[in-house]
Amino acid sequence: ANGRVPFIAGNWKMNLDHLQSIAFVQKLAWSLKDARLDFDGVEVAVFPPFTDLRSVQTLVAADKLPVKYGAQDVSAHDAGAFTGEISGAFLKALDCEYVIIGHSERRTLHMEDDALVAAKVKAALKYDVTPVICVGETAEDLAEHGPSAVPVAQLTAALEGVGAGADIVVAYEPVWAIGSGQAATPEQAEQVAAALRAVVAESIGADAAAATRILYGGSVKSGNIAGFMRQPNVDGALVGGASLDVAEFSSISRFQ
Ligand code: G3P
Repeated sequence: ANGRVPFIAGNWKMNLDHLQSIAFVQKLAWSLKDARLDFDGVEVAVFPPFTDLRSVQTLVAADKLPVKYGAQDVSAHDAGAFTGEISGAFLKALDCEYVIIGHSERRTLHMEDDALVAAKVKAALKYDVTPVICVGETAEDLAEHGPSAVPVAQLTAALEGVGAGADIVVAYEPVWAIGSGQAATPEQAEQVAAALRAVVAESIGADAAAATRILYGGSVKSGNIAGFMRQPNVDGALVGGASLDVAEFSSISRFQ
């Protein structure tokens, strides 16, 4: 909306190994080309596990595929004694354009707090990898604080210390909608997306707010994507389960 290029992102989570990733990305690119997707009109990206990224990079570069890719997490540190961590420098070396930061599964299952999310956002930006910053409320938060309070607080914290005009993407993913089959309504998504755009304006400036893509995530599928894309402040989707099916993800990328 408003001149922003729509962004359809597939978060594979811990699914598809590197061999499966090659087959998937090839089929996805064919499907999008067959459907004559206007690649200037929408950006399509996949977020495979770390171990797939080199394979995806090689394939995309060799065949000049119109599919972007990114990682699902990044370390807050540059290098050193951090067993199991992956630096933003390594992601940049793999030509990752994006990295998901602060997904609710990392916040809850890996105890990531707002301060760590903010540090990771800065680490990504330092290496010129665009953070896809995830925020969202639980069902309890919704009942207690209403729809926008928790996502607004999480995004405000994530942008703490980030410079004006930074290149970011925001994903609003209500925790109660993730993997539940019960998506938010387009109107609910729009209400929170508008509040999040105001946070971006406040934190990193009006120009950045006008340019920042705000995605909705949580039980997105081909049957409900069109309603989200009609909202003025919703610029795309972060898709989980439905991104693992080539035909379905291809349909979502066409908003149908
Ligand atoms: O990051 C995307 C995700 O959390 C949404 O998952 O399966 O509800 O589309 P899903």
